[in-house]
Amino acid sequence: MKNYTKLGHAELKVLGKTVKLPLYGGTEDEKGIDISQLREQTACITLDPGYANTGSCTSGITFIDGEKGILRYRGYAIEDLAKNASFLEVAYLLIYGELPNPTQLSAFVNKITRRSMIPEGMKRFFHGYPESAHPMSILSAMICSLSAYYPDCIHNHPETMDLNICRIIAKIPSIAAFSYKQSIGQPIIEPMNKLNYTENFLRMMFAVPTEEYDVDPVAARALEMILILHADHEQNCSTSTVRIAGSSQANLYASISAGICALWGYLHGGANQAVIDMLRQIRNDGGDVKKFIRQVKDKKSGVRLMGFGHRVYKNYDPRASILKKACDDVLAKVGTDGRPLLDIAKKLENAALHDDYFVERKLYPNVDFYSGIILRGIGIPSDMFTVIFAIGRLPGWIAQWLEMRESPTFRIARPRQIYTGNNLRKYVPLKKRETLSKKVASILKIKGEPKAKEKVEWSRQ
Ligand code: CMC
Repeated sequence: MKNYTKLGHAELKVLGKTVKLPLYGGTEDEKGIDISQLREQTACITLDPGYANTGSCTSGITFIDGEKGILRYRGYAIEDLAKNASFLEVAYLLIYGELPNPTQLSAFVNKITRRSMIPEGMKRFFHGYPESAHPMSILSAMICSLSAYYPDCIHNHPETMDLNICRIIAKIPSIAAFSYKQSIGQPIIEPMNKLNYTENFLRMMFAVPTEEYDVDPVAARALEMILILHADHEQNCSTSTVRIAGSSQANLYASISAGICALWGYLHGGANQAVIDMLRQIRNDGGDVKKFIRQVKDKKSGVRLMGFGHRVYKNYDPRASILKKACDDVLAKVGTDGRPLLDIAKKLENAALHDDYFVERKLYPNVDFYSGIILRGIGIPSDMFTVIFAIGRLPGWIAQWLEMRESPTFRIARPRQIYTGNNLRKYVPLKKRETLSKKVASILKIKGEPKAKEKVEWSRQ
């Protein structure tokens, strides 16, 4: 991996003092000011809510040019990989830094395939969940539970690291499919090692013990492409979560489980499910996309155009371009009943891209806008969409976690803050506290003082 180069320095005048801050450049001409000595030199920190201007690390894994709409893994264009590679080949590339040769790939695939079963005791956990459980809640818990079964991971021993990497990649599709089977009240289908990664997952999702199941090659290839497109995306919310959790020396399974939780939110990976809900809502409301766009533009409505906008891309997300093209191909061969939602999505995109609100803010379709239509086309239920995202993102999380641990600047992640609370106050004894503070009232959504009898909470839920 090429490292960054020192380009010079930036000067900052603060509180009457001028300090020189080193300026570095990456291999694709991105520049960053190193502020690691800032507090020591000036007693000031930087404030950057949402971290839009903060580089938390240097990384040699994924490159994004958000202005031009470019995405590369380890220097390879996403378009090239999505067309030509297999998901496990891309996983190898992300984790080990180079594309594997045939011997390396077959050893890697074999090591993963032979570990696709989950520990027998863990299967009982699935039955403990209600059928209504969201599969993301099961996934995050089960991935963390793997650390109980493989305690060699807890101290992050280098000798067993590779084995644990293969275990987690091998077991995540089985866990995901078992959680789906639990939710529909069907018996789990064990993995079948003669199938490849995506074929195996589709079989575990859709086969039943009483019948033969033939995997549809169109569905398997579409899923493979979706996993590749999601495999890494540099320092996004869930990846940063994985790095932050791992920076405390938390083990791989625990760190990935934290990332799965971060991914779940609808501003991040949960957007793929939210897009389909939005498209269905528009369809059920008569299919009027212009009416929906008006609603989005009315800030008071609180409605967002899901699958649109991105912190980094101020141009078309290249993953969305690939997925949009793939929608037509996939729906032509399987899942033709997805066509009405695809038509609404295309109309919605067209209306947004010609509307000043979206043009001025440089809001374009992101990866989540079209992925759900393909997933739905191959039979994946919408509450499994974010689970598929997590399966795809796993190699990226692993690669970023390893890179963080191997970095010469590795230290626990611990941001600072500017404190804006009360100054020192004297403790008031309980009996003397009479008035309900406005702040507490607003948190508890209480109007006026609670009556004495309302103070007792009987619920045991
Ligand atoms: N619909 C309507 N308005 C939007 C949208 C949207 N989808 N996205 C951004 N805006 C507006 C936003 O209201 C703000 O307007 P104003 O300047 O008038 O206040 C402006 O655009 C800038 O938005 P922001 O919220 O400051 O941008 P951000 O970088 O903090 O947020 C985002 C990025 C992805 C969370 C946001 O664009 C969004 O909520 N999109 C919808 C959810 C979504 O599709 N998420 C998936 C992201 S891609 C895959 C992934 O990371 O998992």
